[in-house]
Amino acid sequence: MIAIFDFGSQYSHLIARRIHELGAVARFYSYETTADKLLADGIKGIIFSGGPASIYNRGAPRPAKEIFALGLPILGICYGQQLLADYLGGKVEHGDRHEYGATTVKLVGNDPLLAGLNPVEEVWMSHGDRISLPAECRIIASSENSPHAAFHVDHLYGIQWHPEVSHTASGKKLLGNFISLCGCEKNLNPVSMIDSLVKLIREEVGEERVIIGLSGGIDSSVATALCAKAIGGQLSAVYIDTGLMRAGESDVVERVARKFGPRFLRINAQKRFLSRLAGIVDPEQKRHVIGEEFIRLFEEVARDEQATFLAQGTIFPDIIESGGQNNQAALIKSHHNVGALPKKMEFRGIIEPLKYMYKDEVRNLARQLGLSRTLIDRQPFPGPGLAIRIIGEVTEERLDLLRQADSILRAEIEQTDLTDQLWQWFAVLLTNKSTAVKGDQRGYGYIIAIRMVESKEAMTARFSRPDWDLLARLSTKIVNELPAISRVVYDITNKPPATIEWE
Ligand code: XMP
Repeated sequence: MIAIFDFGSQYSHLIARRIHELGAVARFYSYETTADKLLADGIKGIIFSGGPASIYNRGAPRPAKEIFALGLPILGICYGQQLLADYLGGKVEHGDRHEYGATTVKLVGNDPLLAGLNPVEEVWMSHGDRISLPAECRIIASSENSPHAAFHVDHLYGIQWHPEVSHTASGKKLLGNFISLCGCEKNLNPVSMIDSLVKLIREEVGEERVIIGLSGGIDSSVATALCAKAIGGQLSAVYIDTGLMRAGESDVVERVARKFGPRFLRINAQKRFLSRLAGIVDPEQKRHVIGEEFIRLFEEVARDEQATFLAQGTIFPDIIESGGQNNQAALIKSHHNVGALPKKMEFRGIIEPLKYMYKDEVRNLARQLGLSRTLIDRQPFPGPGLAIRIIGEVTEERLDLLRQADSILRAEIEQTDLTDQLWQWFAVLLTNKSTAVKGDQRGYGYIIAIRMVESKEAMTARFSRPDWDLLARLSTKIVNELPAISRVVYDITNKPPATIEWE
């Protein structure tokens, strides 16, 4: 396993993704982790990520000296490179010119870290500092503005550019070389991943009983299938009907879940969620109320089931957006199962077998686990459900309206072949009202926004460019069939800057 010390770069999470794509395993660790902990976990190499700090800032994050002296290969990227230079007795100074974006580096010599790269490589930099190094460091690449763009001494490798971003053409090759230098195997595949996750779950849980939150989405279904494989007899799968689901969804989930194997419980909590949400319009508050209510219900079920562990289908993007990957990252939104969890919980532990994975990796696991196509190809649906697609207060009337509009939209889209290209397609109910003329009457009704996006793993998304006729059909149907709706608009914003969900 490779340890990533995350110093807060916005690209840090991509390092883990690339390592997984290369068939090895990466885990994030706090930079304060001790050498003993790394050795106990069987870490074979360390990557120091980039970060916004300058190492001479007061309070700049620095790992202990013992980490550098461990002898494990360390790759320092950008800020990480500065840490290595400083450890080795070099200097970091503000450069004359900042380097942001694409630039070229020239390779010097034949270092194994850069094996297979072209003599001149296009790379992506984002920094304003330059380093000088003691004589024993071998310079292995340079750029016009950074004579020491990459160096190597003993087990330490420093590079100023970001190999993890896709704009660095041979970045993946470089990371692959580093994995080889660490002596890590690159044999991760869905089968070996399932075996190791099952083993980890067994080790963590022992003889205890576990409840798992099953929403019917792919993440929680894969997590349930893994837990069932690992500790089937000790597991109860719990579906909470929040009343915030799409039309007909709860019955479908129950039907699928009952085929799954473990003991299944359906909890009807529609009234509880609605009354907790009354009067709330702030999206983060909605998320926190929902996150907390989920946990309180899980605690109640756990008492009845004598379970001490809660398992969840949390995936890596949930953690990144909730600002939970490191304490320097920004909060984008509190995912109901991560950032919106209450501080005090009765559980002895939370099991999250998928927490380092992206959705496409989870889909691969689902295929390997033999889960049904309907489940694998289902569009993602957020835990807080329709509550975060209703701008403003969530009421029974507005929920009902959105459910009907969403149902019309889904029925129409599901007849097209767009479902293969789209990541998500859904309706959002706005707070404002708008004037209409229906027949000879004035109308004054709600506005529905349609969101249709293409994405690979939800970290970025592109709004879909469907046929105008399809949009016209959707608009006509929604406005005609729902008298309370007077207008339909189409969302033409990519992510970034707009998130996929409106709240
Ligand atoms: P955003 O809106 O952050 O969404 O661009 C990225 C993906 O995550 C889903 N999403 C959630 N899933 N709990 C979840 O389980 C949540 O709180 C949550 N918020 C957003 C969203 O549907 C999209 O696929």
